[in-house]
Amino acid sequence: MHFVHLASLKDLQTRKLICVKTDTYRILLALAEGKVYAVDDMCTHEDASLSKGSLHGDCVKCPLHGSRFRLASGEALDEPAEEALNTYDVRIEGDAILVGIPE
Ligand code: FES
Repeated sequence: MHFVHLASLKDLQTRKLICVKTDTYRILLALAEGKVYAVDDMCTHEDASLSKGSLHGDCVKCPLHGSRFRLASGEALDEPAEEALNTYDVRIEGDAILVGIPE
């Protein structure tokens, strides 16, 4: 795993949910309850970007059919989604948000 600088805290403080891309990953960064989380941006049910969804406590809610996912674990809390999202390690260095990308 290597850490990649994907956004700044300032970006996230205004929008709370943003989608960032690497060569192979599309990652949702979320600022929830004062903490930064990184999970897959694509819902595990169908093709919906969770960055277009909404925050509910420490969960993100899919904009298409409303499944909620816990940001810390990726766990799907409501149907129709059943599979968990992949989660990624986050490091904060100053204003930089670094995300651990698998090799
Ligand atoms: S696409 Fe996300 S719950 Fe259906």
